[in-house]
Amino acid sequence: MRTQIGIIGAGPAGLMLSHLLHLQGIETIVIEKRSREEIESTIRAGVLEQGTVDLLNASGVGERMMKEGDIHQGIELQFKGKRHRINMQELTNGKKVTVYAQHEVIKDLVGARLQAGGKIIFNAEHVSLHDIDTGEPKIRFRKEGMNYEVACDFIAGCDGFHGPSRQAIPKILRNEKQKVYPFGWLGILTQTPPVNPELIYTNHERGFALISTRSPEVQRHYLQVDPNDDLKNWSGDRIWTELHARVDSEDGFKVKEGPIIQKNIVAMRSFVCETMQYGRLFIAGDAAHIVPPTGAKGLNLAISDVYVLSNGLVQFYQSGKKEILCRYSEICLRRIWKAQRFSNWMTTILHRDVNHSSYEYQVQLAELDYVTSSNAASTSLAENYVGLPLEIPDNNSIIFSESLLV
Ligand code: FAD
Ligand code: DHB
Repeated sequence: MRTQIGIIGAGPAGLMLSHLLHLQGIETIVIEKRSREEIESTIRAGVLEQGTVDLLNASGVGERMMKEGDIHQGIELQFKGKRHRINMQELTNGKKVTVYAQHEVIKDLVGARLQAGGKIIFNAEHVSLHDIDTGEPKIRFRKEGMNYEVACDFIAGCDGFHGPSRQAIPKILRNEKQKVYPFGWLGILTQTPPVNPELIYTNHERGFALISTRSPEVQRHYLQVDPNDDLKNWSGDRIWTELHARVDSEDGFKVKEGPIIQKNIVAMRSFVCETMQYGRLFIAGDAAHIVPPTGAKGLNLAISDVYVLSNGLVQFYQSGKKEILCRYSEICLRRIWKAQRFSNWMTTILHRDVNHSSYEYQVQLAELDYVTSSNAASTSLAENYVGLPLEIPDNNSIIFSESLLV
């Protein structure tokens, strides 16, 4: 098999890249190790930045998101039992976020690719990268007992944190930086009407809690837990008791209980791989960086990386110029480090660290008091939460600009 761009991984990064390139007449093959059913049902992120929403809309895959997604103009921060609203729309000149589940974005992208005749190979085993430092890199894999090879011009490694792409960059050239947090998130999906019109991020002595939403019938909530805790220790009763203890507030507000239809625990880390390119391989999304979920940035960063990459590839195929491709890492990392800073900051001000003293707890509360009472501080939170713009040099070939760009 031969294609222009071989893409490893059908997550948001790989599928969006394939879609954007298709719209510019560039051919791709996406190679995914899981089944279509699995990728379309894995519960993950939910908050889409304004730029992500604009790009999905401008590229023609936003229709269902606009119908079923929930547009939020603000968020609430709760501490010392009181809620404080950050009016993001007012503070950012009209920008908002949309709550629409990651697996729904995946369904929309898979649908669009298949309808356009795009090639996605599901259930691929033993996926490996070859000759990435030559002009004809290759991806090899096995499927149903047969060996396959895809020769291409470039490889996009969009295979998440544990995939093989990042490892294909020689270790000596990979400058990896990471921080592991002593926190985990227990996430639930519950069948109840929405608890609150906007997300509530809660700092409580017993630990962080987050009230989010999915639809008029299903809600998504999170509790800070020990990252090594076992789901078996978390009965429905215990989850509701803990959510009430952390979120119910002095003004009579109470979390609504309902049947829990899904629960999972995720550990939290920050990670960045500098460089994101080697030879003809470009890595994007979680393959290159991880953020703790508190800032709701993981999925959005995956989309902004492939936005830069698609612009670089379009520039290359249209004019033979390599400016954007050569500066891919540098362009992406500027924005990635700002999202790292924001996610780390949100995590630090909102979670209870058992190693912290009452002094550090008071500093956390002062930070929350400052951010909710100072216009400058709440503007800073708001502009980061709705998503910082992207700067791409030499914008002659820029596709779908709008709010992702300065
Ligand atoms: P992924 O979505 O990980 O996609 C990578 C794809 O590559 C997967 O489909 C995988 O099956 C495939 N793959 C892996 N290895 C191979 C291989 N060898 N060969 C072929 N294919 C391969 N972010 C938030 O903002 N909020 C959240 O609440 C949140 N919750 C999360 C919960 C979990 C359990 C995880 C893992 C992440 C969560 N994130 C969250 C982060 C967010 O979901 C990710 O940042 C986002 O999925 C990144 O997209 P991606 O396309 O880069 O990678
Ligand atoms: C959701 C996830 C997040 O990480 C976040 O910060 C807000 C909401 C969610 O899954 O709804």
